[in-house]
Amino acid sequence: MQYEGIDNIKTEIENYLITDAETLEQFRIQYLGTKNVLKDLFTAIKDIPNENKKEYGQKINAVKQLAEEKFALLQLQFQNNKADKKHFVDTTLPVAIKNQGAKHPITLIREELVTIFSKIGYLVAEGPEIETDWYNFTALGIPEDHPAKDMQDTFYIQTNPDIVLRTHTSNVQIRVMENQNPPIRIIAPGRTYRNETISARAHCVFHQIELLYIDEGVSMADLKQTLLYLAQELFGTETQIRLRPSYFPFTEPSAELDVSCFICGGSGCAVCKYTGWVEIGGAGMVDPLVLENCKIDSEKYTGFAFGMGLERMAMLKYRINDIRLMSENDFRFLKQFENS
Ligand code: DAH
Repeated sequence: MQYEGIDNIKTEIENYLITDAETLEQFRIQYLGTKNVLKDLFTAIKDIPNENKKEYGQKINAVKQLAEEKFALLQLQFQNNKADKKHFVDTTLPVAIKNQGAKHPITLIREELVTIFSKIGYLVAEGPEIETDWYNFTALGIPEDHPAKDMQDTFYIQTNPDIVLRTHTSNVQIRVMENQNPPIRIIAPGRTYRNETISARAHCVFHQIELLYIDEGVSMADLKQTLLYLAQELFGTETQIRLRPSYFPFTEPSAELDVSCFICGGSGCAVCKYTGWVEIGGAGMVDPLVLENCKIDSEKYTGFAFGMGLERMAMLKYRINDIRLMSENDFRFLKQFENS
């Protein structure tokens, strides 16, 4: 009760509009004069329980100090401005914040995914965007002349030895496994690059999120349950998942993850192209060779990995039909996320 009184007076002081000598004097009388409103609060100290006295006293002192500072500052400003009374500006007033800005849809999706996975014990990991051939390709089972390497149209910063702009966040898998002993549970969001022609569907700069779980006895069932958890957290508890066999050089077996269409619930619509399913990422059991490349005993440990594109996720979730909107900084686009 008493505390509320103090807070109210504090807000009153902060918002007290002083425009001239007269209002400044009124302010002084009210908060610093011989019969000022803070006096009652000081008198009330004797009724406050002992254990709260200190905190209470500090609070009123802080409010008193606020009033003193505001008064001193405005008095000085007023003296300096005497010649120009009309243009007196109270610089202590709180600023009314306009156009505060909004989170970018990629940020919203990234934060949502990090929250979902931190609830089940995953930690955020990072890796460099400028990467050596080893971390981006070779350690992941993509050898020099493997066709999978031309699957990825890569930006080379330097050749021989090759240094590239990472084509996926899978490099973080290697960097983490090299430096940590299992159990490993990480989520790695980040920016990725591919030498793509820019269109409504593809961009040469985009974002991915990588998941990696390594421990004793991790199985495909764990992967499936984790992906079901992800799908239901993202799109609601009715959501179903489907794993389609696929191929990635760093996982065996590999799968593509589909979720039941969160727009039509599976009956067929334009978003799922009338199939009832929407593809959201790639996954699989980490290939034992990849574990060995990171000096992890593949007889003892197994694990799974998962990767997905954030732009694609944001486009599905917010029904955005052109990926270029994500990087054009058009206010009309960005403003739509203000209250998300
Ligand atoms: N790195 C793959 C890509 O960019 C995505 C991916 C697939 C990541 C399977 C994974 C995975 O971790 O297990 O297309």
